[in-house]
Amino acid sequence: MTRPLRNKLNDLDAKSWLKFQKSWFIHNPPPRRKDVLRHPAKFPETLAQEFIEFFTHAGQVVLDPMAGTGSALVAALRAGRHSFGVELNPQYAEIARQSIAAERQNLGAAAADLVAEVITGDAARLAEIIAAAVIPQVDYVITSPPYWDMLRARGAQTQKERRQSDELDVFYSDDPNDLGNIADYEQFLLRLTDIYAQMKPFLRVGAYLTIIVKNVKKGGKIYPLAWDLARQLGSIYTLKDEKIWCQDNVRLAPYGLGNAWVSNTVHHYCLQFRKED
Ligand SMILES: C[S@@+](CC[C@H](N)C(=O)[O-])C[C@H]1O[C@@H](n2cnc3c(N)ncnc32)[C@H](O)[C@@H]1O
Repeated sequence: MTRPLRNKLNDLDAKSWLKFQKSWFIHNPPPRRKDVLRHPAKFPETLAQEFIEFFTHAGQVVLDPMAGTGSALVAALRAGRHSFGVELNPQYAEIARQSIAAERQNLGAAAADLVAEVITGDAARLAEIIAAAVIPQVDYVITSPPYWDMLRARGAQTQKERRQSDELDVFYSDDPNDLGNIADYEQFLLRLTDIYAQMKPFLRVGAYLTIIVKNVKKGGKIYPLAWDLARQLGSIYTLKDEKIWCQDNVRLAPYGLGNAWVSNTVHHYCLQFRKED
């Protein structure tokens, strides 16, 4: 007879725990609902739910400081966790609220007692926002920032397709507070790290943070955003690990064909940090 697992972190059995421990995974995003297509770069709710179910128990509190269309909050509802999100662009915040309302309808009584709240605001003032909204102690953060100003790069295949549509955004916004509009890489890194640092007093000791990010190609060179962020934020939280998210359903573009090495980058880093002091 197998002994039941004494599990302080989550509600998973040993088999599911082990499955999550692999350092890479393939997750092809399911087709997006029409209402969230406007947003240029969201992560799948299905992916967020797997992380939330690993890093929390049912009933705990999840935060996404740059919530976009609210994928993390929808995933938290499905997983039976409370959630809070902050988003700068009021249109995305509204889409997130509508997605949450639709998900509540689907889930019925199972989600009736769960909080899922989206706050429209600038995450640069996160500490103030969290204090004003009386957000309870946070058990887990899952989030993904703008990948520097990559959406403004000419030539990205997905962006070419978006430019031809009136209903799809190419950039998050023209707001100067939008981190996706900071042209200077070092400034971007500093401001991003400051936002994540502001969350620290509100996190439970032992809470994990998952930050989904990519290295950025610009002007023929790589800016190692994932690695720089890991190093910089590693002075505030403990950098625990990386998990590499691969997509294998992406149409490949012939960048540099016959001329130079330019990869099709179809992986993201899910960086794991922990508040340990
Ligand atoms: C990669 S997207 C997040 C997508 C989200 N995970 C989802 O699945 O929909 C980054 C988001 O950060 C938001 N953002 C940029 N600067 C911000 C700021 N200063 N405060 C809050 N949100 C910001 C953008 O509007 C964008 O929606």
